Amino acid sequence: MKITSLALAITVVTLFGTTIDRYHCKEVQFIFGDSLSDVGNNKQLSRSLAQASLPWYGIDFGNGLPNGRFCNGRTVADIIGDKMGLPRPPAFLDPSLTEDIILEKGVNYASGGGGILNETGSYFIQRFSLYKQIELFQGTQSLIRSKIGKEAAGKFFQSARYVVALGSNDFINNYLMPVYSDSWTYNDQSFVDYLMETLNSQLKLLHKLGARQLMVFGLGPMGCIPLQRVLSTSGGCQDRSNKLALSFNKAASKLLTDLSSRLPNASYKFGDAYDVVNDVITNPSKYGFSNSDSPCCSFGRIRPALTCVPASTLCKDRSKYVFWDEYHPSDAANEIIANEIIKKLGFLHDHDTEPNAPSPAPDAFGPSSEEE
Ligand SMILES: *[C@@H]1O[C@H](CO)[C@@H](O)[C@H](O)[C@H]1NC(C)=O
Ligand SMILES: *[C@@H]1O[C@H](CO)[C@@H](O)[C@H](O)[C@H]1NC(C)=O
Repeated sequence: MKITSLALAITVVTLFGTTIDRYHCKEVQFIFGDSLSDVGNNKQLSRSLAQASLPWYGIDFGNGLPNGRFCNGRTVADIIGDKMGLPRPPAFLDPSLTEDIILEKGVNYASGGGGILNETGSYFIQRFSLYKQIELFQGTQSLIRSKIGKEAAGKFFQSARYVVALGSNDFINNYLMPVYSDSWTYNDQSFVDYLMETLNSQLKLLHKLGARQLMVFGLGPMGCIPLQRVLSTSGGCQDRSNKLALSFNKAASKLLTDLSSRLPNASYKFGDAYDVVNDVITNPSKYGFSNSDSPCCSFGRIRPALTCVPASTLCKDRSKYVFWDEYHPSDAANEIIANEIIKKLGFLHDHDTEPNAPSPAPDAFGPSSEEE
């Protein structure tokens, strides 16, 4: 009898506890990024020239209609979040976004053409830079505070996971383009330093706003995207762009280690997939790809095509192309990138442990061991 009523009491407390904890129990993601993570923000920015709102974007996702992703299928953040068992956060500008959905799923602020720097991508006319995205996040925070109260909101935002994935546009659509003043104001080293100073302030600001578990994605070999190749005389990768990506990754990795040890209670991590993507591009067949230098979606022989449009032709097998359009990897390539980042961050353990892989931190990514 006693045991039964005790058990009942525990059940009641648990149920009641769950109800009270409803808001800060749910683990959600807040994603800050560019076109590699955009899930529909630019689609709502009607004057933005960085758009993925026409077919054949989204052809391998859901109903196959354009959904705002600059890909045929999933983004890297989609795949990583899925593997961590987290809901996919909707776009900030999604007209159906409500406080309840934010509490259930988080928010994605990523915007095609956006960069770490405010001035990056200005010729796209409309895009959210990282500072702008953080400003929008602060708006989300006050919305949630007025809905559930300051204390519960504080817990909710501290237990959420944060993704910051920008940087390619700061090079491709800023520093490497002579129309931008940054290209003649800085040199390779001082520009990377400038990016790191800015990112440092932005990550510290996010920490002040409650971000405790945060990951930054590094850059891939951006000198090998089809657009960069077609602009080179040989058709090969642009060596300078690749060196800049490596230099960015090295500096960002150091910044994140540094912040993680200095900011209280912070688990801030850096993960990139540069080496694997470089290997995929050099030895595509080793990974089941047949093409690693041109876009699957192209406009006849006209190169660069800049964007995929309804009049474009598609490659025969989309799973065999590393690149979907001139800028962006395909769903199949994103899966490889996501798996590599997960491995680098120690979220899943792999059998062929690499000697240079950082030691696994099982606490950093919650319920991960069930995945294997
Ligand atoms: C960047 O833009 C934000 C607004 O989104 C503004 O508050 C901030 O002062 C700008 N920073 C610089 C360095 O221009
Ligand atoms: C760090 O975590 C401890 C224990 O949960 C908490 O008491 C403290 O307020 C936290 N500090 C910050 C700055 O989040």
